Amino acid sequence: MPSGILAAVEHDTPALFDQIAPRYDTANWLMTAGLWGAWRAAFARHAPIAAGSRVLDVGCGTGELSLLLARLGAGEVVGVDLSEGMLAFGRAKVARSPHAGRIHLQRGDATALPFPDASFDAAASAFVMRNVPDLDRALSEMARVVRPGGHVVVMELSHPPSRLVRGLFTPFFRVMPPIVGRLTQGAGGSAAYAWLPESLARFPDADAMAAKVTAAGLEQVRFVRLTAGIVCIHIGRRPLPRQEPLY
Ligand SMILES: C[S@@+](CC[C@H](N)C(=O)[O-])C[C@H]1O[C@@H](n2cnc3c(N)ncnc32)[C@H](O)[C@@H]1O
Repeated sequence: MPSGILAAVEHDTPALFDQIAPRYDTANWLMTAGLWGAWRAAFARHAPIAAGSRVLDVGCGTGELSLLLARLGAGEVVGVDLSEGMLAFGRAKVARSPHAGRIHLQRGDATALPFPDASFDAAASAFVMRNVPDLDRALSEMARVVRPGGHVVVMELSHPPSRLVRGLFTPFFRVMPPIVGRLTQGAGGSAAYAWLPESLARFPDADAMAAKVTAAGLEQVRFVRLTAGIVCIHIGRRPLPRQEPLY
């Protein structure tokens, strides 16, 4: 049963992220104790992003992953997000970067992507899937817009397999986000960040997430655990059309 805060997130995600957008990058850095840099490096190692490819960044927020995808060699990056506030900060950041001409950020819903089938070489997302009201639908949408042979890459918080790590991480993760929210955004920030641990509590563990990625129609599904499993990167490939035998 979702709490009041979680229900609010589900029904008014853009308003919540509009509220935290101005200090999102600072809060993110503080909350992850700088680990976002290491997770970004791991994403760069594992994500199959081909040079010159057209890549979709789902839930691009302030554009951090879009910029990374461009640095990895993507020829064109399209970012979509529900929050105009996050997009505004992202656009300003992209405009100041050397990749401005290759990144385009626009409003769009992860559960109803405004793109035709097979229109991207790859689709990626970072720390978004906990927020969507229908995870299966969002994964299916990412699979739909990727061409056959293209990849879907999802980075998200997860549940560490070690009971010891879970025992340390779970209480830390309950207490830390509201404190960082208050420090960076004042009293309102504390409430806004309280949804974070709640969204993780209902999110599938790495094996269940892999099953969902497979159910979305992807193959060769694998995942990489980062920082003892606090974060996971799931990767799947859209199957190539079956070759009919010649005779
Ligand atoms: C935690 S932030 C992550 C932003 C960015 N990917 C990053 O790694 O910094 C989650 C983002 O997902 C967006 N979001 C949540 N639900 C969404 C949906 N259904 N469709 C598109 N974006 C969504 C939010 O507006 C927010 O910008």
